Amino acid sequence: MSNAVVFFLLLITISHSTILLPSQHHRDSLTSSSTTCPAPDPNLYHRPVIGILTHPGDGATGRLSNATDVSNIPASYVKFVEAAGARVIPLISTEPHETLLKKLELVNGVLFTGGWAKDGPYFESVRIIFKKALEKYDAGDYFPIYGICLGFELITMIVSEDNNILEEFAAANEASSLQFVENTNIEGSVFQRFPPDLIKKLSTDCLIMQNHHYGISPSKLLANEKLSSFFEILTTCTDGNDKVYVSTVRSRKYPVTGFQWHPEKNAFEWGSAKIPHTEDAIRVTQHVANFLVSEARKSLNRPVAREVLDNLIYNYKPTYGGKAGKGYDEVYLFE
Ligand SMILES: *[C@@H]1O[C@H](CO)[C@@H](O)[C@H](O)[C@H]1NC(C)=O
Repeated sequence: MSNAVVFFLLLITISHSTILLPSQHHRDSLTSSSTTCPAPDPNLYHRPVIGILTHPGDGATGRLSNATDVSNIPASYVKFVEAAGARVIPLISTEPHETLLKKLELVNGVLFTGGWAKDGPYFESVRIIFKKALEKYDAGDYFPIYGICLGFELITMIVSEDNNILEEFAAANEASSLQFVENTNIEGSVFQRFPPDLIKKLSTDCLIMQNHHYGISPSKLLANEKLSSFFEILTTCTDGNDKVYVSTVRSRKYPVTGFQWHPEKNAFEWGSAKIPHTEDAIRVTQHVANFLVSEARKSLNRPVAREVLDNLIYNYKPTYGGKAGKGYDEVYLFE
Protein backbone atom coordinates (compact mmCIF):
# COMPACT_ATOMS: atom_id res chain seq x y z
CA MET A 1 0.00 0.00 0.00
CA SER A 2 1.29 3.48 -0.81
CA ASN A 3 1.77 6.01 1.93
CA ALA A 4 -1.07 8.07 0.54
CA VAL A 5 -3.57 5.23 0.80
CA VAL A 6 -2.45 4.42 4.33
CA PHE A 7 -2.85 8.02 5.28
CA PHE A 8 -6.31 8.16 3.68
CA LEU A 9 -7.52 5.04 5.57
CA LEU A 10 -6.10 6.47 8.75
CA LEU A 11 -8.00 9.66 8.12
CA ILE A 12 -11.26 7.74 7.62
CA THR A 13 -10.67 5.82 10.81
CA ILE A 14 -9.93 8.91 12.83
CA SER A 15 -12.74 11.09 11.63
CA HIS A 16 -15.14 8.48 10.41
CA SER A 17 -18.24 10.38 11.37
CA THR A 18 -17.26 13.63 9.65
CA ILE A 19 -16.10 12.44 6.22
CA LEU A 20 -18.83 12.21 3.60
CA LEU A 21 -18.55 11.04 0.02
CA PRO A 22 -19.97 13.55 -2.51
CA SER A 23 -23.06 11.34 -2.97
CA GLN A 24 -23.73 11.49 0.76
CA HIS A 25 -24.04 15.28 0.82
CA HIS A 26 -27.52 16.59 1.30
CA ARG A 27 -28.92 19.15 -1.09
CA ASP A 28 -29.14 21.43 1.92
CA SER A 29 -25.47 21.42 2.61
CA LEU A 30 -24.76 22.21 -1.06
CA THR A 31 -27.09 25.19 -1.17
CA SER A 32 -25.89 26.48 2.15
CA SER A 33 -22.30 26.33 0.94
CA SER A 34 -23.25 28.52 -2.03
CA THR A 35 -24.69 31.18 0.29
CA THR A 36 -21.35 31.65 2.00
CA CYS A 37 -20.36 34.22 -0.68
CA PRO A 38 -20.46 37.51 1.19
CA ALA A 39 -22.83 40.09 -0.28
CA PRO A 40 -21.08 42.91 -2.17
CA ASP A 41 -20.78 46.15 -0.22
CA PRO A 42 -24.33 47.59 -0.28
CA ASN A 43 -22.94 51.12 0.03
CA LEU A 44 -21.40 50.84 -3.43
CA TYR A 45 -23.10 50.68 -6.83
CA HIS A 46 -21.89 47.70 -8.82
CA ARG A 47 -23.49 48.63 -12.16
CA PRO A 48 -21.73 51.95 -12.79
CA VAL A 49 -22.01 53.81 -16.09
CA ILE A 50 -19.51 56.41 -17.29
CA GLY A 51 -20.50 59.22 -19.65
CA ILE A 52 -17.94 60.10 -22.32
CA LEU A 53 -18.38 63.41 -24.15
CA THR A 54 -17.98 63.13 -27.92
CA HIS A 55 -15.31 65.36 -29.52
CA PRO A 56 -15.87 67.30 -32.78
CA GLY A 57 -14.74 65.74 -36.06
CA ASP A 58 -14.31 62.15 -37.21
CA GLY A 59 -11.11 61.53 -35.25
CA ALA A 60 -9.39 60.67 -38.52
CA THR A 61 -8.83 64.07 -40.21
CA GLY A 62 -11.63 63.47 -42.71
CA ARG A 63 -10.74 59.92 -43.71
CA LEU A 64 -13.98 58.60 -42.21
CA SER A 65 -16.39 61.54 -42.46
CA ASN A 66 -16.40 65.18 -43.45
CA ALA A 67 -19.88 65.88 -42.08
CA THR A 68 -19.89 69.24 -40.28
CA ASP A 69 -21.92 67.89 -37.35
CA VAL A 70 -19.89 64.71 -36.87
CA SER A 71 -18.35 64.01 -33.46
CA ASN A 72 -16.45 60.99 -32.17
CA ILE A 73 -15.17 58.97 -29.26
CA PRO A 74 -11.94 57.03 -29.83
CA ALA A 75 -12.86 53.45 -28.87
CA SER A 76 -9.77 53.24 -26.64
CA TYR A 77 -11.57 55.36 -24.01
CA VAL A 78 -14.61 53.09 -24.17
CA LYS A 79 -12.50 49.94 -23.79
CA PHE A 80 -10.56 51.59 -20.94
CA VAL A 81 -13.81 52.11 -19.01
CA GLU A 82 -15.29 48.74 -19.92
CA ALA A 83 -12.12 46.87 -18.92
CA ALA A 84 -12.53 48.22 -15.39
CA GLY A 85 -16.12 47.03 -15.03
CA ALA A 86 -18.36 49.88 -16.12
CA ARG A 87 -20.50 50.59 -19.18
CA VAL A 88 -20.39 53.73 -21.31
CA ILE A 89 -23.04 56.19 -22.42
CA PRO A 90 -21.90 58.65 -25.10
CA LEU A 91 -22.77 62.25 -24.25
CA ILE A 92 -23.16 63.65 -27.74
CA SER A 93 -21.64 67.13 -27.64
CA THR A 94 -23.63 68.43 -30.61
CA GLU A 95 -26.94 67.73 -28.88
CA PRO A 96 -28.77 70.53 -27.03
CA HIS A 97 -27.56 71.20 -23.48
CA GLU A 98 -30.93 70.10 -22.16
CA THR A 99 -30.40 66.63 -23.71
CA LEU A 100 -26.82 66.46 -22.40
CA LEU A 101 -27.94 67.26 -18.86
CA LYS A 102 -30.71 64.66 -19.09
CA LYS A 103 -28.18 62.02 -20.13
CA LEU A 104 -25.98 63.08 -17.23
CA GLU A 105 -28.74 61.72 -14.99
CA LEU A 106 -28.03 58.24 -16.43
CA VAL A 107 -24.34 58.08 -15.48
CA ASN A 108 -22.16 57.79 -12.38
CA GLY A 109 -19.18 59.78 -13.61
CA VAL A 110 -17.80 61.49 -16.71
CA LEU A 111 -14.65 61.26 -18.82
CA PHE A 112 -13.44 64.12 -21.04
CA THR A 113 -11.16 62.74 -23.77
CA GLY A 114 -8.13 64.08 -25.55
CA GLY A 115 -8.47 66.05 -28.79
CA TRP A 116 -7.91 69.60 -30.04
CA ALA A 117 -11.16 71.61 -29.71
CA LYS A 118 -10.69 74.41 -27.18
CA ASP A 119 -13.62 76.66 -27.97
CA GLY A 120 -17.09 76.81 -29.48
CA PRO A 121 -19.99 74.49 -28.65
CA TYR A 122 -17.64 71.70 -27.51
CA PHE A 123 -16.00 73.89 -24.87
CA GLU A 124 -19.47 75.01 -23.73
CA SER A 125 -20.60 71.37 -23.37
CA VAL A 126 -17.54 70.54 -21.26
CA ARG A 127 -18.14 73.61 -19.09
CA ILE A 128 -21.81 72.82 -18.48
CA ILE A 129 -21.14 69.17 -17.62
CA PHE A 130 -18.18 70.03 -15.39
CA LYS A 131 -20.17 72.63 -13.44
CA LYS A 132 -23.05 70.18 -13.05
CA ALA A 133 -20.66 67.49 -11.75
CA LEU A 134 -19.37 69.83 -9.04
CA GLU A 135 -22.96 70.77 -8.17
CA LYS A 136 -23.84 67.10 -7.78
CA TYR A 137 -20.95 66.61 -5.37
CA ASP A 138 -21.91 69.72 -3.41
CA ALA A 139 -25.48 68.38 -3.19
CA GLY A 140 -24.24 65.16 -1.57
CA ASP A 141 -23.72 62.80 -4.51
CA TYR A 142 -20.34 61.41 -5.52
CA PHE A 143 -19.62 62.15 -9.15
CA PRO A 144 -16.08 61.50 -10.42
CA ILE A 145 -14.55 63.30 -13.40
CA TYR A 146 -11.53 62.24 -15.44
CA GLY A 147 -10.04 64.90 -17.70
CA ILE A 148 -7.51 63.35 -20.03
CA CYS A 149 -5.07 65.51 -22.02
CA LEU A 150 -7.37 68.08 -23.73
CA GLY A 151 -9.96 67.19 -21.08
CA PHE A 152 -7.56 68.35 -18.36
CA GLU A 153 -6.56 71.44 -20.36
CA LEU A 154 -10.22 72.48 -20.68
CA ILE A 155 -10.86 71.94 -16.97
CA THR A 156 -7.81 74.13 -16.28
CA MET A 157 -9.34 76.89 -18.44
CA ILE A 158 -12.74 76.50 -16.78
CA VAL A 159 -11.46 76.49 -13.18
CA SER A 160 -9.12 79.45 -13.77
CA GLU A 161 -11.81 81.26 -15.80
CA ASP A 162 -8.95 82.17 -18.12
CA ASN A 163 -9.02 80.81 -21.68
CA ASN A 164 -5.40 81.91 -22.21
CA ILE A 165 -3.98 80.14 -19.16
CA LEU A 166 -2.33 77.30 -21.14
CA GLU A 167 1.32 77.37 -22.25
CA GLU A 168 2.98 75.64 -25.18
CA PHE A 169 5.04 72.51 -24.62
CA ALA A 170 6.97 70.17 -26.87
CA ALA A 171 5.46 66.84 -25.88
CA ALA A 172 3.89 65.48 -29.06
CA ASN A 173 4.06 61.75 -29.65
CA GLU A 174 6.59 60.64 -27.05
CA ALA A 175 6.72 58.32 -24.07
CA SER A 176 7.88 59.66 -20.71
CA SER A 177 8.24 58.90 -17.03
CA LEU A 178 6.24 60.60 -14.27
CA GLN A 179 7.94 62.55 -11.47
CA PHE A 180 6.04 62.61 -8.19
CA VAL A 181 5.99 65.97 -6.45
CA GLU A 182 8.00 65.83 -3.24
CA ASN A 183 5.98 64.86 -0.16
CA THR A 184 2.89 64.11 -2.23
CA ASN A 185 0.31 62.07 -0.40
CA ILE A 186 -1.12 59.61 -2.91
CA GLU A 187 -3.74 58.32 -0.48
CA GLY A 188 -7.19 58.61 -2.03
CA SER A 189 -5.63 59.48 -5.40
CA VAL A 190 -5.46 57.54 -8.66
CA PHE A 191 -2.04 56.23 -7.57
CA GLN A 192 -3.14 54.88 -4.18
CA ARG A 193 -3.68 51.32 -5.32
CA PHE A 194 -0.75 51.13 -7.72
CA PRO A 195 1.57 48.38 -6.45
CA PRO A 196 4.77 49.89 -4.94
CA ASP A 197 6.97 48.35 -7.67
CA LEU A 198 4.89 50.05 -10.36
CA ILE A 199 4.93 53.42 -8.56
CA LYS A 200 8.72 53.19 -8.53
CA LYS A 201 8.89 52.28 -12.23
CA LEU A 202 6.66 55.25 -13.15
CA SER A 203 9.51 57.61 -12.30
CA THR A 204 12.29 55.56 -13.91
CA ASP A 205 10.74 53.87 -16.96
CA CYS A 206 8.85 55.46 -19.86
CA LEU A 207 5.42 53.98 -19.17
CA ILE A 208 3.44 57.12 -19.98
CA MET A 209 2.30 58.24 -23.44
CA GLN A 210 2.37 61.98 -24.16
CA ASN A 211 0.80 63.68 -27.14
CA HIS A 212 0.16 67.36 -26.53
CA HIS A 213 1.27 70.84 -27.56
CA TYR A 214 -0.23 72.65 -24.59
CA GLY A 215 -0.20 72.31 -20.83
CA ILE A 216 0.56 74.28 -17.71
CA SER A 217 3.77 74.67 -15.71
CA PRO A 218 3.71 74.03 -11.95
CA SER A 219 4.71 77.65 -11.28
CA LYS A 220 1.84 79.03 -13.35
CA LEU A 221 -0.67 76.69 -11.74
CA LEU A 222 0.53 77.53 -8.23
CA ALA A 223 0.55 81.28 -8.96
CA ASN A 224 -3.10 81.18 -10.02
CA GLU A 225 -5.22 81.36 -6.88
CA LYS A 226 -8.26 79.64 -8.45
CA LEU A 227 -6.17 76.78 -9.80
CA SER A 228 -3.98 76.28 -6.74
CA SER A 229 -6.95 76.23 -4.39
CA PHE A 230 -8.78 73.73 -6.62
CA PHE A 231 -5.95 71.41 -7.67
CA GLU A 232 -3.18 69.54 -5.94
CA ILE A 233 -0.27 68.63 -8.24
CA LEU A 234 0.65 64.95 -7.98
CA THR A 235 3.19 64.56 -10.79
CA THR A 236 5.14 66.57 -13.34
CA CYS A 237 6.93 65.70 -16.57
CA THR A 238 9.65 67.37 -18.63
CA ASP A 239 9.13 68.19 -22.31
CA GLY A 240 11.57 68.02 -25.23
CA ASN A 241 12.94 71.48 -24.35
CA ASP A 242 13.48 70.62 -20.65
CA LYS A 243 10.41 72.62 -19.65
CA VAL A 244 8.48 71.11 -16.74
CA TYR A 245 4.70 70.73 -16.99
CA VAL A 246 2.02 69.49 -14.64
CA SER A 247 1.13 65.93 -15.63
CA THR A 248 -1.30 64.62 -12.98
CA VAL A 249 -3.55 66.59 -10.64
CA ARG A 250 -6.42 65.87 -8.35
CA SER A 251 -8.92 68.26 -6.90
CA ARG A 252 -8.43 69.09 -3.23
CA LYS A 253 -12.18 68.75 -2.65
CA TYR A 254 -13.93 67.08 -5.59
CA PRO A 255 -13.42 63.60 -7.13
CA VAL A 256 -11.75 65.19 -10.15
CA THR A 257 -8.50 63.87 -11.63
CA GLY A 258 -6.64 65.49 -14.52
CA PHE A 259 -4.04 63.81 -16.72
CA GLN A 260 -1.72 65.59 -19.15
CA TRP A 261 -0.99 62.11 -20.55
CA HIS A 262 -2.84 59.17 -22.06
CA PRO A 263 -3.54 56.24 -19.72
CA GLU A 264 -5.92 54.70 -22.28
CA LYS A 265 -3.41 54.42 -25.14
CA ASN A 266 -0.98 51.87 -23.67
CA ALA A 267 -3.47 49.02 -23.87
CA PHE A 268 -5.68 50.12 -26.74
CA GLU A 269 -3.94 52.29 -29.36
CA TRP A 270 -1.35 51.08 -31.91
CA GLY A 271 -1.11 53.95 -34.42
CA SER A 272 2.17 55.35 -33.04
CA ALA A 273 5.31 53.28 -32.51
CA LYS A 274 6.01 55.42 -29.41
CA ILE A 275 3.08 54.07 -27.39
CA PRO A 276 4.45 51.78 -24.65
CA HIS A 277 2.93 48.29 -24.71
CA THR A 278 5.05 46.50 -22.10
CA GLU A 279 3.34 44.55 -19.33
CA ASP A 280 4.12 47.40 -16.91
CA ALA A 281 2.63 49.93 -19.34
CA ILE A 282 -0.57 47.88 -19.56
CA ARG A 283 -0.70 47.68 -15.77
CA VAL A 284 -0.68 51.49 -15.73
CA THR A 285 -3.72 51.58 -18.06
CA GLN A 286 -5.54 49.06 -15.89
CA HIS A 287 -4.86 50.75 -12.54
CA VAL A 288 -5.89 54.17 -13.83
CA ALA A 289 -9.13 52.73 -15.24
CA ASN A 290 -9.82 50.84 -12.02
CA PHE A 291 -9.65 54.05 -10.00
CA LEU A 292 -12.22 55.83 -12.18
CA VAL A 293 -14.69 52.97 -11.87
CA SER A 294 -14.04 52.50 -8.13
CA GLU A 295 -14.90 56.19 -7.70
CA ALA A 296 -18.04 55.79 -9.85
CA ARG A 297 -19.23 52.93 -7.61
CA LYS A 298 -19.53 55.51 -4.81
CA SER A 299 -22.15 57.40 -6.83
CA LEU A 300 -25.65 57.46 -5.35
CA ASN A 301 -27.32 57.71 -8.77
CA ARG A 302 -29.52 54.69 -9.61
CA PRO A 303 -30.80 55.43 -13.11
CA VAL A 304 -33.77 53.68 -14.74
CA ALA A 305 -32.37 50.52 -16.35
CA ARG A 306 -34.39 50.87 -19.56
CA GLU A 307 -33.16 54.41 -20.21
CA VAL A 308 -29.58 53.28 -19.63
CA LEU A 309 -29.93 50.47 -22.18
CA ASP A 310 -31.41 52.83 -24.75
CA ASN A 311 -28.38 55.13 -24.48
CA LEU A 312 -25.46 52.73 -24.03
CA ILE A 313 -22.53 52.81 -26.46
CA TYR A 314 -23.64 49.29 -27.48
CA ASN A 315 -26.24 51.02 -29.69
CA TYR A 316 -23.32 52.20 -31.87
CA LYS A 317 -20.57 50.43 -33.78
CA PRO A 318 -16.94 51.57 -33.90
CA THR A 319 -15.17 52.05 -37.25
CA TYR A 320 -11.66 50.77 -37.89
CA GLY A 321 -9.77 53.91 -38.83
CA GLY A 322 -6.27 52.80 -37.85
CA LYS A 323 -5.52 50.81 -40.98
CA ALA A 324 -4.04 54.01 -42.44
CA GLY A 325 -1.23 53.48 -39.92
CA LYS A 326 -1.93 56.64 -37.91
CA GLY A 327 -4.46 58.14 -35.56
CA TYR A 328 -6.96 56.22 -33.47
CA ASP A 329 -7.40 52.54 -34.22
CA GLU A 330 -11.16 52.52 -33.76
CA VAL A 331 -13.56 55.42 -33.39
CA TYR A 332 -17.26 55.70 -32.64
CA LEU A 333 -18.81 58.29 -34.95
CA PHE A 334 -21.92 60.32 -34.13
CA GLU A 335 -23.63 62.20 -36.97
C1 LIG B 1 -13.08 64.36 -46.92
O1 LIG B 1 -12.49 65.39 -47.66
C2 LIG B 1 -11.18 65.10 -48.10
C3 LIG B 1 -10.61 66.36 -48.77
O2 LIG B 1 -11.48 66.86 -49.71
C4 LIG B 1 -11.19 63.90 -49.01
O3 LIG B 1 -9.88 63.57 -49.43
C5 LIG B 1 -11.79 62.71 -48.26
O4 LIG B 1 -11.91 61.59 -49.10
C6 LIG B 1 -13.14 63.07 -47.70
N1 LIG B 1 -13.59 61.98 -46.82
C7 LIG B 1 -14.69 61.26 -47.03
C8 LIG B 1 -14.98 60.20 -46.03
O5 LIG B 1 -15.44 61.43 -47.97
